[in-house]
Amino acid sequence: MEALRLILLYVHLIGFALLLGGGIAQYVTGRLRINAAMLWGAIIQVLTGLGLSAPLRDPDDEPAPAKLVTKLVIALLIFVMVFFSRKRESVSRGHFLAIIGLTLLNAAVAVFWR
Ligand code: HEM
Repeated sequence: MEALRLILLYVHLIGFALLLGGGIAQYVTGRLRINAAMLWGAIIQVLTGLGLSAPLRDPDDEPAPAKLVTKLVIALLIFVMVFFSRKRESVSRGHFLAIIGLTLLNAAVAVFWR
């Protein structure tokens, strides 16, 4: 079970890299459109996050359910903002920066909510 959890965590971190890295790389080009890395990152985060929420470790060591619900709500918001704009030539700066900001917020929730 621990091996499965570690694999899920590893893929979760790759999803984070795709979402944030894809977003920042796209932002600096000046053309604000949703790229494939962002789309796959958003999908991977929701799927691996749900997997990581399964009781795979010591019961004393499990993250608080409220933390998981908070992360799920933020990740679903990101997913909706990415998925339904994926075919647009460009999105507004506010929309694009909100995706990056919510990604950073979810990483902060992951790290600081203990
Ligand atoms: C954009 C979306 C997300 C980002 C950026 C993100 C970021 C992270 C990061 C950086 C870690 C590693 C933290 C550590 O191990 O100390 C992590 C772990 C984890 N994430 Fe996420 N995550 C996202 C979505 C989700 C979702 C949707 C869920 C589940 C509902 C989730 C559940 C977890 C769990 C259970 C862990 C294991 C470690 C722990 O919480 O203590 N994540 N996440």
